[in-house]
Amino acid sequence: MATIATVSSSPSVPSRTDAVLDYVTKRLISHGHTVTPIVLRDLPAEPLLRGQADDPAIAAAAAVLAAADAVVVTTPVYKAAYSGLLKVFLDLLPQYALKGKTVLPLATGGTPAHVLVIDYALRPVLTSLGAEAIGQGWFVLSSHIRLYDGGGLLLDPAASVPLYGVTEAFLATIEGEQVVEGGAVQAAAVEAVRVRPDDPEAAPLLADLVVEYSTRYGRTTANTQLTEVPASDFQVESGGAFVLLRYGGQTVAGGAIRRYDDETAEVKRMWTSHLHRRQGLGRRVLAELEAAAADLGYRRLYLTTGPRQPEAAGLYLATGFEPQFDTSADPESIGPLPFTKEIPVALKVAS
Ligand SMILES: Cc1cc2nc3c(=O)[nH]c(=O)nc-3n(C[C@H](O)[C@H](O)[C@H](O)COP(=O)(O)O)c2cc1C
Repeated sequence: MATIATVSSSPSVPSRTDAVLDYVTKRLISHGHTVTPIVLRDLPAEPLLRGQADDPAIAAAAAVLAAADAVVVTTPVYKAAYSGLLKVFLDLLPQYALKGKTVLPLATGGTPAHVLVIDYALRPVLTSLGAEAIGQGWFVLSSHIRLYDGGGLLLDPAASVPLYGVTEAFLATIEGEQVVEGGAVQAAAVEAVRVRPDDPEAAPLLADLVVEYSTRYGRTTANTQLTEVPASDFQVESGGAFVLLRYGGQTVAGGAIRRYDDETAEVKRMWTSHLHRRQGLGRRVLAELEAAAADLGYRRLYLTTGPRQPEAAGLYLATGFEPQFDTSADPESIGPLPFTKEIPVALKVAS
């Protein structure tokens, strides 16, 4: 496992750039890597401005960088460049401080006109510091970042999908593995399988849900969401089922049901890989879960989704689920959003 240093270089609190970094950090940790943050605004200002590299706090930050196998460098775009805070820190570092390291540059900015900041401003200095491999990097528009009180974060899919892709590519470089390609899925080649909840093939789904929930709702709520229901509820013996979709040797989507009451199955753990979203895989998972519920003798499906999962709510509305709440109200004021769906008669008869 790798040691990864992250560099946060916004002077602001809260910081949108830090929120993006937090999301990426969770993904790195979910792969088992050790992540050590360097928060530049917390370094002593005067030694930083006076170029005193021997200041203990600054030397400690440089040592974290030196010990790292890989580095995530993040910056807000200020005045069409990376932040001044990052500049003063980089100026203090030894000439080849990034020698042999894999680097992922990330930026946030207010206008797409400055999307090239990573390439014309940041990349050259990272190269000059000796970085061995500099990932594609990504620029996230600040309007695509929604911060909530209490630490929750909702990224627009226009940001989260490519951010996921560059993070996967960074991880693949660190781990010496092939980049997992996204792109168009051939529906006919997608295989649906019913597995036990502890099947290793379900691991990507469960790991990604932890990251997603903790990013969107903050750690405590995320843990509650995923621990309140024991995995044993999804076993056939308990009246449950766990469905995965396989494509190209990968788990690309999945979901589960459990007994809610004698006639109702509750849908849980809905997930689609970021690399394969918006291609009907969520619909396919719901169809497979509906068939599994019919097989188990249920007459209807019930589920709740969180108020910060607009894409999930959209999927349920598009697949015949009836919202059991006021759809004109602000989802945040409701909390978990309940939906129900009667299982079509044809499926019940077929079962
Ligand atoms: C002083 C200042 C200068 C900025 N200059 C730019 C700019 O030139 N181009 C741009 O796209 N955004 C600019 N922005 C917007 C920030 O890059 C954007 O809001 C960013 O997400 C802030 O990140 P933070 O919350 O981590 O500080 C500027 C913001 C500030 C405060």
